[in-house]
Amino acid sequence: MSYYAVVLAAGKGSRMKSLNEEISKVSYPILGKPLVRYVIDALLPLKLDKIVTVVGHGGAVTVSHVEKFSETVWQKELKGTGHAVMQTEPVLGGLSGTTLVVTGDTPLLRTETLKALLAFHAEGKYDLSVLTAEVGNPFGYGRILKDEKGLVAAIIEQPDLISGQEKIKEINTGVLVFDNQKLFAELKNLKPNIRKGEYYLTDLIAAFRQKGFKVGAYKIGDYSETLGINDRVQLEEAARILKIRINKKHMYNGVTVEDIENTYIGPDVTIGPDTVIRPGTAILGVTAIGNTNVIGPESYIVDSQIGNNNHVIKSYIVESTIGDDSEVGPYTHLRGHTVLEGHNRVGNFVEVKKTVLHQGVKSAHLSYLGDAEIGSKTNIGCGTIIANYDGKNKWNTKIGQNVFVGSGSTIISPVNIEDDAFIAAGSTINKDVGKDDLAIARARQENKKGYAAILKERISNRKK
Ligand code: UD1
Ligand code: CA
Repeated sequence: MSYYAVVLAAGKGSRMKSLNEEISKVSYPILGKPLVRYVIDALLPLKLDKIVTVVGHGGAVTVSHVEKFSETVWQKELKGTGHAVMQTEPVLGGLSGTTLVVTGDTPLLRTETLKALLAFHAEGKYDLSVLTAEVGNPFGYGRILKDEKGLVAAIIEQPDLISGQEKIKEINTGVLVFDNQKLFAELKNLKPNIRKGEYYLTDLIAAFRQKGFKVGAYKIGDYSETLGINDRVQLEEAARILKIRINKKHMYNGVTVEDIENTYIGPDVTIGPDTVIRPGTAILGVTAIGNTNVIGPESYIVDSQIGNNNHVIKSYIVESTIGDDSEVGPYTHLRGHTVLEGHNRVGNFVEVKKTVLHQGVKSAHLSYLGDAEIGSKTNIGCGTIIANYDGKNKWNTKIGQNVFVGSGSTIISPVNIEDDAFIAAGSTINKDVGKDDLAIARARQENKKGYAAILKERISNRKK
């Protein structure tokens, strides 16, 4: 049996009230990842034969998010969910198999639920199965209408409800499973809704029943999983649920999360056991963190790798790598593929860009290190600046092992400072320094005996 999925993602998302006309609703991120990617990620483990995403409003952005995982088709005019599925005919029409239709704005849907729905569909030999939920306030949803035998007879959309039907609490979650050939055959007969002029996918339920096809309803236990995002309040609501779900997963795997509400871990982050995540920390993108680290409080880490036994306090780390046994922060900024190889100490107000710090390098305070390679055990004094940019180009500097760079030095790239060299504090270095050499590059100090009092007197007599 072949399996396919259609992801409906063409809608405008008017209720997001964005000024940006180019953005699609399903592109809004939760924990750094677009809504539609959550849906796709729930589908991927099902190993379907095809996934087709229907894009329309803001479609270029949507395509960029899904094209690695899904085929895409365009719905030029937004004429309803039935019309959206019609657009997939060139890809799916005529194929035999089972098609799962999901909406792109339900990021909480879990693979297990979709699996259970597909199993229900197969075991019951249904032609159409609806994932339904019992909700407290069903307003706005399509209601599940049952016949006298308790079988699904139709789905009635909110504007078309007749008196009494608004009390039905069982709703269509928007997830449907179809026999693919019957789906496309019946779509051909679908008529636009009289009131709205849109083609409702949900009208297929009654159509299938009329043909004598078998229609089933599978009720989900946890309704929150099918929460659809239509506005920014629902976006926050879903983000909160996802955040807790992800944090708990790490906690069950041996990670200590000190404040579950105030920790933001993206869905593609891995963390090893005995690592402690302190409050106010966000770990996003594709980030891997090893064992026994203390991360936070208040650190922001994106697309980075961190080994074991590190301590990262109040720091900002983007696209960088930290080995083992290092101390980072408070207030450190690592970026541009910086590598701390291990046993490093990078401290207060140090920014490191595209630089490799080999084992044991220390830069404890107030420095900028950019486009450089620094050999093992070298010490970078407080206030050191590598001047890597001449206004046009970025230049590289190499500093060897066991070098001592005195405080307040400016190293003007490109230079090469060899192993075991010593840079006197306050130097401005623009020439290479040889192995074991001492470089002093600063004006010589002159002391004028008793001159301080004379100078102070002169200053206080100065007129404006
Ligand atoms: C739909 C269902 C309703 C269900 C609810 C669950 C229909 C007619 N109604 O209503 O029974 O209870 O979802 O959340 O199917 N889309 C397109 N092209 C279009 C229109 C919509 O791709 O022309 C996409 C949207 O991007 C969205 C999804 O389809 O991802 C659902 O559309 P939406 O307008 O939100 O449907 P609802 O009114 O919520
Ligand atoms: Ca919706």
